[in-house]
Amino acid sequence: MKILIASSIEHDTLKRLQEEHEVICAFDAPPKLLCENIRDCDVLIFRSGVKITREVLQSAPGLQLIIRAGSGIDNIDIDYVREQEYQFVRIPEPGARAVAEMSFAFMLALSRCLFLADRMTKQGHWIKHDIEGYLLARKTLGIIGVGNIGSTVGQIGVGWGMNVIGCVEHPSQQRADELLAMGIHLMDFEEVVSRADYLSIHVPLKDSTRNLINSNTFSKMKPGVYLINLARGGVVDEQALLHAMTNGGPVRGAAIDVHSQEGEGKISPLADLPNVILTPHIGAMTIDTQREIGNRIIHTIQTFVPKSVEAKFIV
Ligand code: MLT
Repeated sequence: MKILIASSIEHDTLKRLQEEHEVICAFDAPPKLLCENIRDCDVLIFRSGVKITREVLQSAPGLQLIIRAGSGIDNIDIDYVREQEYQFVRIPEPGARAVAEMSFAFMLALSRCLFLADRMTKQGHWIKHDIEGYLLARKTLGIIGVGNIGSTVGQIGVGWGMNVIGCVEHPSQQRADELLAMGIHLMDFEEVVSRADYLSIHVPLKDSTRNLINSNTFSKMKPGVYLINLARGGVVDEQALLHAMTNGGPVRGAAIDVHSQEGEGKISPLADLPNVILTPHIGAMTIDTQREIGNRIIHTIQTFVPKSVEAKFIV
């Protein structure tokens, strides 16, 4: 098969695919370049960082299988994917634990001012008595989007002795019961926002979630709240967050892994704030996670049964 890989994937997986197939690598290429490279490909593999537009997909008349090596589908024209009935395979499960652990790494780092303490100690400043630290235990962890990732964050929070609350887009009694069995209390969005000491965001980016966390949302938050965004940059209005962290706003600290502008040379408007941790979209970037995603990519391709052209017309 001929495979276009539009984003960097785990090294051994790439090697195995190259041994067994014709592989074109165009990591993070702009749509115009993807259009040129995808022409006679059967399979497309991609992650975040590229834009898989309708034009890109239309440039490959023989394309049959699309593999999203992770979770988000905000960077592909999903309406066109459905229209064309491509076989579309997402691999969201392996990343959930990695993102959830990173949410905790952020909560701990923010609560204990670890980055500031590290910086000052290395400069010879002994700030033992100047640092304000907080326990996670007995605090309220609010989760916006208690799905695959959010519920994993919630279960770790329960284990840590936190009071865990969360909301979902389509609440139901069944979902509330399932979450309660994990120790997570389902509430509405406003309640989660106004009660949380730590607010961790885990919703996909789509029309209904763009700028979901905006100046109005910040105005309802508890003073001293910590905000963690491992979802997508567009879900939090960065200018509103900047405002909420300065001018006596409620946010004591924030940790942001995803940004409205991502990539080499892009600098967040939050970069100058001392109480912000910024990372380059590494929530799912553990060796274990990417190896597992790689194994699933190989399995998907090995077990893929191409539809014949006639079959596509008959369907
Ligand atoms: C995802 O949606 O799976 C994550 O953003 C990881 C990625 O694709 O880079």
